[in-house]
Amino acid sequence: MLCGAAAGGRAEPEVPAPPMGWMTWNLFGVDIHEEGLRRVADAMVESGMAEAGYTYLYIDDGWQGGRDKRNNIIPDPEKFPSGMKALADHLHQRGLKLGIYSDGGQLSCAGYTASYGFEEQDAKTFASWGVDYLKYDYCNAPQNKEAANARFKAMGDALRKSGRDIVFAVCCQVHLEPWKWGRAVGAQLWRTGPDSRDKWKNIVYVINCNAGLHEYAGPGGWNDMCMLSVGMHGEGATPWIKGTGCTGIEYRTQMSIWCMMAAPLTASCDLLNMSETTKRILMNKELIAVNQDQLGKQAVREVNTGALNVFVKPLSNGDHAVAILNLGKTPKDFKVDFAGIGLPGRYKIRDLWKHEAAGSGASWQGNVRSHETKVFRLSKMP
Ligand code: GLA
Repeated sequence: MLCGAAAGGRAEPEVPAPPMGWMTWNLFGVDIHEEGLRRVADAMVESGMAEAGYTYLYIDDGWQGGRDKRNNIIPDPEKFPSGMKALADHLHQRGLKLGIYSDGGQLSCAGYTASYGFEEQDAKTFASWGVDYLKYDYCNAPQNKEAANARFKAMGDALRKSGRDIVFAVCCQVHLEPWKWGRAVGAQLWRTGPDSRDKWKNIVYVINCNAGLHEYAGPGGWNDMCMLSVGMHGEGATPWIKGTGCTGIEYRTQMSIWCMMAAPLTASCDLLNMSETTKRILMNKELIAVNQDQLGKQAVREVNTGALNVFVKPLSNGDHAVAILNLGKTPKDFKVDFAGIGLPGRYKIRDLWKHEAAGSGASWQGNVRSHETKVFRLSKMP
C-alpha cells in the first residue's frame, strides 16, 4: 500500500507489515565495528532469522565520525574502514537491508554528529550508501510538538527527495505523542514507549504504554515498542540495557505481546550465540504470521483485571489471535468466555506456542503460569 507522496518527492516506501530485523544498541551500544556487523549479517542468514523475516540490520547510535570539508556526514573511519556503502552491499548481496540512525538535533542521544540543519544533505548521503531505513531520534532538540513536527517533517521530506525508498522511523520522547502525527511527517513507524530493557518490569511497562494505541497502528504506520530483549539474559554490553535478565517464560511473553500488537520485531541479542530456546522464541513462525498478518490490526486489550490480561487481534482470514497473560506472581486458573471478548460462537483453538490443537468450544479454561502468555488462534466453527 502506498501512503501518498510528499510534496516534490516520490511516494513513501511500502511498509505493509511491521518491519523485522536486528539492532545494534542493546548488545554493542556505541562499540560497533563493520567486522562484527558482517558477522551478525552472516548469522542472520545462517541461523534462519532472515528466512523467518528478520531482514533489516539496523545500526544504532555511535557510527558517526563527524562531517567532511563539504559537510557530508561520514562514518567513524576506525569503526567502518570500508565505508558504509560496502556494508550495505554486503547486506544487499545476502538479501538483507541496512538501517541507520540519526537525530533531529545537532547531536544524537549518545553525543554524536546528527542531522539538524543537514536533513537534505544527510538523506542524500544515506541514499547514496544504499540505506533502506532511518531511525530518527530526538535528543538535544526542543521538547514541544510544534518543533518536533517541523524537525521530523524536514527529514521525512528529505528522505522522499533522496531518490531512494528509505523507511522513516520516528524515535522521540513519549510526551510528544508521535503516534498522533507520525504519518503526517512521512513516518512508517514511531516509538510508543521508553527504551526497552532486559527486565520483566520494563516489559510490562512498555506493554501498558502501547496497549491503548491500537487505533494508530495499521498498514504503513506501526506502533514501535522498541527492541526485543529476548535471549539477552542480562548480558547487554552497555549500561543502558544491562539488567537482571528475564526468564524464558517472560521472553515468550514479550514475543507474544509484540506479535499481538503488530509491533516491529527488532531482535537485539547475540545472534552468533543464540540458544535453541531463544531461536524457538524469535523464530516462532505461527506467531510471526500473527504479527505480519496483512490486515495489520493491533490487538485490543479486552480484559485488564488484576493479574489477567486478554488481548484479541483480528486476522485477515477471519481467525482471531487471543493472548492470555498472567501478570501475577503465582500460577492461576483462568476461564475466558469468548463471547465476553467479542467473539460469540464456537471455535477451533490452536496453541501457537505448543504448535498443536487445543480443543474447541465457546471458551478456554486452563492454568497460566506466572508471567506466562498463552496465544491461541481461534477459527470459527460453522
Ligand atoms: C535513545 C533511543 C535508543 C537508542 C539511543 C542511542 O535512547 O531511545 O533506542 O537509539 O538513544 O543513543
